[in-house]
Amino acid sequence: MRIVHTLSELRHFVSTHKMQGHKIAFVPTMGNLHEGHLSLVMEARKSADVVICSIFVNPMQFGENEDLDAYPRTLEADTQALESKNCDLLFAPNAKEVYPNGLGEQTRVDVPNLGDYHCGASRPGHFIGVATVVAKLFNMVQADIAIFGEKDFQQLAIIRKMASELCFPIDIIGIPTSREASGLARSSRNGYLTDAEKQSAAQLYKVLLAAREALKDGERDFVKLSEHANAKLVEGGFKPDYFNIANPKTLAPSAPKDEQFVILVAAYLGKTRLIDNITLALN
Ligand code: PAJ
Repeated sequence: MRIVHTLSELRHFVSTHKMQGHKIAFVPTMGNLHEGHLSLVMEARKSADVVICSIFVNPMQFGENEDLDAYPRTLEADTQALESKNCDLLFAPNAKEVYPNGLGEQTRVDVPNLGDYHCGASRPGHFIGVATVVAKLFNMVQADIAIFGEKDFQQLAIIRKMASELCFPIDIIGIPTSREASGLARSSRNGYLTDAEKQSAAQLYKVLLAAREALKDGERDFVKLSEHANAKLVEGGFKPDYFNIANPKTLAPSAPKDEQFVILVAAYLGKTRLIDNITLALN
């Protein structure tokens, strides 16, 4: 696997492969790779001739009081993991390479409406940072397909809308959430958890499953479902941020007649903010 840190090296690599008519798959990440990330790389490997992964802890998507400095940076282990999955190129730029004029000067991508809810409401500016960096990375890498996880359901919806409405010539592929045996969704932030917290963390998925069962059984009092879920989370040692039942296309609150649902949750265990989601289609 080649590792490059600059845009010009990346462009050179990409143009060589484009000239040979190779199909390129791209997996953007912030590193500290786990099996969830690697399932994306494996999908990329299956779907294209050339696999490019990026590792960039994007300062633009972190709020002022968030964990930008503490975010785990494990380039050596990540390199080995990517090599084991036959990734062809790792693009690991620094902030100056991605934002040469600084964050304040950076042209922004703001995807309307989808970002109004859930994590967008709790983390103002977060999805502008995500959409901006992903748009830049798409233009840098010029891949044919890009792979994202359904673990970040709202992020995936926002990226799909951005790619479609800005006419990026790229197919966006979503991959199901990879979970630990306990049901806990794999996340780089799980590394912040103590052993005891990790055991409690599995409760997040259990609460999602219980809400989905209730929806399946016909419960349509969404406020009651959320209140019950939040109470369970508090019992399990969490400080809930949100527990929302939404329309998977618009991400707006569900209506009782809907037949498709996504249940999204964010909650703190100590200082660690965890997110997860689950979908239900009745037809
Ligand atoms: P990061 O959190 O590193 O995640 C990179 C990709 O891995 C995302 O598409 C995410 O949804 C996916 N992923 C994370 N955990 C997963 C799991 N348990 N199962 C399946 N896929 C999982 O998401 C970001 O980085 C950034 O916001 C980024 C898109 C790179 C822009 O900076």
